[in-house]
Amino acid sequence: MELPRTMKAIRFHNHGGPEVLRLEELPVPKTSEREVLVRVHAVGVNPGDWQIRSGFAGDRFELPYIPGWDVSGVVESVGDSVINLRPGDKVFGMTANSGGCAEYVTVPFDQLALKPRSIDFIEASALPQSGVAAWHSLFEQGKLEAGQTLLINGAAGGIGHIAVQLARWKGASVIGTASPHKESFLHELGVDAFVDYTTDLPAGIGRSVDIVLDTVGGDKGDWLLDTLKPGGCLIPTAWGRYASEKATKASITVQEVQFAPVTTSNLAELAQLVNNGKIKIAIDSVFPLEETAKAHIRSESRRARGKIVIQVQ
Ligand SMILES: NC(=O)c1ccc[n+]([C@@H]2O[C@H](COP(=O)([O-])OP(=O)(O)OC[C@H]3O[C@@H](n4cnc5c(N)ncnc54)[C@H](OP(=O)(O)O)[C@@H]3O)[C@@H](O)[C@H]2O)c1
Repeated sequence: MELPRTMKAIRFHNHGGPEVLRLEELPVPKTSEREVLVRVHAVGVNPGDWQIRSGFAGDRFELPYIPGWDVSGVVESVGDSVINLRPGDKVFGMTANSGGCAEYVTVPFDQLALKPRSIDFIEASALPQSGVAAWHSLFEQGKLEAGQTLLINGAAGGIGHIAVQLARWKGASVIGTASPHKESFLHELGVDAFVDYTTDLPAGIGRSVDIVLDTVGGDKGDWLLDTLKPGGCLIPTAWGRYASEKATKASITVQEVQFAPVTTSNLAELAQLVNNGKIKIAIDSVFPLEETAKAHIRSESRRARGKIVIQVQ
């Protein structure tokens, strides 16, 4: 089929609420030498999407702007120096500069991998940033080992629900926090203990935890320090304020937020775990491209159970 000259895309021209998102007809992007043109099937939503749209993430992203970083789809064409992928390949990955909420997007070849064969495009689009952030936090930053105890604050969200499964696969014990109606979901994911953060903070945990993964952030995370053993560490995936004096006194390290690069090799590693049934992707909700605003509203609610996805075709 011949490539059309234009495509449907969601774009905003000014920062603001979800109402600034507009469906527009735009030129299909052209690939450079190291890029792949992907016919987008689905776009995974991350909190960064609405943080950029609202202006909360600052003004370093040029307007007008097409949201959507995590994509899955089919390779339409490849740049001259791309040798690892060819038209027709089913892929997933992360774009270099957003643009995913569109029928076509260009992606650097080394930020794509073959879609895990055991999942569909919807689930594959949910994996890149959440999966890589979970892996990086636990294994690169935390050096999590079998037999250790991990507490995940926000265990039911995009990063959290994958982190639970990665930690169990590694052989760690996992305590997960969420609101009470998500208790059975966290047990299905494999947590050893559930903490209802709305009531029983931090009942019964004592100082038994080696590593805390905090996906919630904000200024209410001090209680997490009380759960860590001396020598333990807290790894935030989002900005948080923690009592530094208390941490020092208890010999606890609070790490900086890191953003791990999404690469072909770390995507392929996650894909293998998915194909082997070690990670299951939970889908909170799916919205058509035209209803991207509803997907942003759902993400902004911070109540997602797993991942929110936009279906393009
Ligand atoms: N560092 C990185 O590489 C990286 C990558 C991607 C995203 N991030 C950032 O990491 C953060 C988490 O991302 P995400 O995609 O996992 O978010 P998310 O999917 O929007 O998180 C939603 C989940 O958070 C839970 N939650 C909200 N408030 C809570 C609280 N006080 N205590 C416990 N759980 C709570 C909710 O559970 P309940 O409904 O039960 O409250 C819900 O299941 C975001 O700030 C995001 O920007 C970082």
